[in-house]
Amino acid sequence: MKEIKKESKIYVFDDLYELPSDVAQLMEKAIEARSRAYAPYSNFEVGAALLLDNGQIITGNNQENASYPSGLCAERTAIYYAGSQYPEAKVIRMAISASSKMTATDTPIPPCGACRQAMVEYEVKQIHDIELYFMGAKGAVAKSNSVMNLLPFVFDKTVLF
Ligand code: THU
Repeated sequence: MKEIKKESKIYVFDDLYELPSDVAQLMEKAIEARSRAYAPYSNFEVGAALLLDNGQIITGNNQENASYPSGLCAERTAIYYAGSQYPEAKVIRMAISASSKMTATDTPIPPCGACRQAMVEYEVKQIHDIELYFMGAKGAVAKSNSVMNLLPFVFDKTVLF
């Protein structure tokens, strides 16, 4: 028996203003996208903005459904759109802002497990790490240097062959 240990590391910025300006601009797009979320059931709104290596910025937000499991998270809405429209492009980074409609969330909200799995697919496909920045509606912003960092012991295509 041996122990295999993997570490996850995130960096936390005090607020939006501590970010490099291009990243802050991407986060502003995520915040804008959050304002268009369709979340009448959970009242939890999420916006995502991703930057492609062709310079395009793609945004998405959570889309809920009366049949709850039919809804989709913001991150997957955005990355599936990017994958469908720009299959050759690489995703450089994604900014995510998530907040309750009742009170402005002020802590960084990491993407859910299903979104991590969806995002890591593209990270593996493009052989290029995707930087993730995530925050609430205000306050601190967390950064992960890759999706894999948030999903150690990943299930990816390498196990299928
Ligand atoms: N949600 C996202 O959009 N992204 C996540 O990573 C976690 C959760 C959405 C799904 C649902 O519409 C609402 O937030 C509450 O779970």
